[in-house]
Amino acid sequence: MSLTIPAPPSVPFLGNIGTIDKEVPLNSFMLLAKQYGEIVQLNFVGNKVVILNSYDLVNEVSDEKRFYKKVSRGLLQVRNAVGDALFTAHAPGEQNWYLARTPDIPLSTPHIECAKSTALLSTLPHSPGDVRGNRFGPTYSIDPAADFTRLTLDAISLCAMSYRLNSFYREELHPFAQAMVDFLIECGNRSFRPALVRPLMRGTNAKYEADQQVMMNLVDEILEYRKTHPTDKKDLLTLMLTGKDKETGLGLPEDNIKRNLLTFLIAGHETTSGLLTFMVYYLLKHPEAMRKLREEVDTMIGDRPMTIDDIHKLPYLIAVMRETLRLSPTAPVRGAAPIEDTTLKNGSYFVEKDSGILVNVTMSQRDPKIWGADAEQFRPERMLDGKFEALPPNAWQPFGFGMRACIGRPFAWQEAQLVLATIIQRFDLVMEDPSYSLHIKQTLTVKPQDFHIHAIPRAGKP
Ligand code: HEM
Repeated sequence: MSLTIPAPPSVPFLGNIGTIDKEVPLNSFMLLAKQYGEIVQLNFVGNKVVILNSYDLVNEVSDEKRFYKKVSRGLLQVRNAVGDALFTAHAPGEQNWYLARTPDIPLSTPHIECAKSTALLSTLPHSPGDVRGNRFGPTYSIDPAADFTRLTLDAISLCAMSYRLNSFYREELHPFAQAMVDFLIECGNRSFRPALVRPLMRGTNAKYEADQQVMMNLVDEILEYRKTHPTDKKDLLTLMLTGKDKETGLGLPEDNIKRNLLTFLIAGHETTSGLLTFMVYYLLKHPEAMRKLREEVDTMIGDRPMTIDDIHKLPYLIAVMRETLRLSPTAPVRGAAPIEDTTLKNGSYFVEKDSGILVNVTMSQRDPKIWGADAEQFRPERMLDGKFEALPPNAWQPFGFGMRACIGRPFAWQEAQLVLATIIQRFDLVMEDPSYSLHIKQTLTVKPQDFHIHAIPRAGKP
């Protein structure tokens, strides 16, 4: 007989909506995990969601024969702007997802090629330390989350769509970035708001529509620019416009191309800028790790400009990235559902076909069973010398799982390495407030909040 899944007390109709911190839902999920353990069930206005917190359970649902990606409540709201584009498509189900992921339209290759060429590297002179540290000096207060957002948004737009946004030439963030943050926050809020209340919030709804329009305006601008400036470059945009599935002869419909462009602009920068900001935070909190990384960069790269061929020469940097994404996966949870009625943990917990499961990646990547008693500590050494490769399956899952895993992983990986190594090469970074302790802000992804640094140019460095 299966066990009852533990659940916090709930109120009639609303269920556990009041249990969740609306600004940073992840904080509530982490608290619930500490209180209830490996599995906990929440009820959102009658919709039950089971949250999985342990490695064993996450490993069990990482099985495409039994489970599929369920578009979570938050992502369902994101569909209002991006519909059946890659991230938010119902797959199995929606045909455009299969089209966009057919090997005949290899959407993950053009931006990898682009990173190998000079396009991505050409965004580096605008990396945070460079612009702020050199232009404004070592006492200037840098907001790395904002500047890495500028950098990664410019990089995805340039590499995937050959379109320059020049975000470092404006005081404020690009209007797209601000509209996107507001849109994603409202998507999160809507997912916790009873549907009955929604029509009453006219001002909020108008702003929600306006933010979508601002984002779509950029997509239209990029498409218009392509029409007036045709190119032979096989970038992601070209592939989307011309690619065809060999078997069916079908290409992506125009509306889906627009929604995929928007998806790439969002998914292609928000998570990577979070990764870069968390990396800087962890390194500054762990001076010995920073010292080792700096030594590696100085030894392997020295004073010359970093190139794409260097990215295989920096094992400690890769360990820092892996360890950062273990403790702070910037996409902290993912949705899943059983294909059929089933049980988890050898019959212990019954889960109904199509019912919502939330995989708490942040928590399962801290499971002491896999990571030991110091699982909560930042220790890049645990990712070195073959230890990462020897991990059990699905222990490290910041890029998702299976057929719905991240399509931009190689791009993000190269980008983050190039950016961080180039900054370390040129600058000493210091925390503005050495007593700062990590707190996060959350849209659908997470980033450090109120975190500020200084960048001091290193003597005699490029
Ligand atoms: C999917 C994480 C960078 C594009 C995903 C998923 C995760 C993830 C966890 C699966 C989500 C789910 O199961 O619901 C990350 C992280 C990144 C990153 C941590 C950086 C550190 C990027 C970049 C791009 C990108 C740079 C674009 C160039 C996408 C797309 C999907 C996706 C389009 C949907 C794939 C599908 O459903 O077929 N990402 N991502 N991501 N990612 Fe990323």
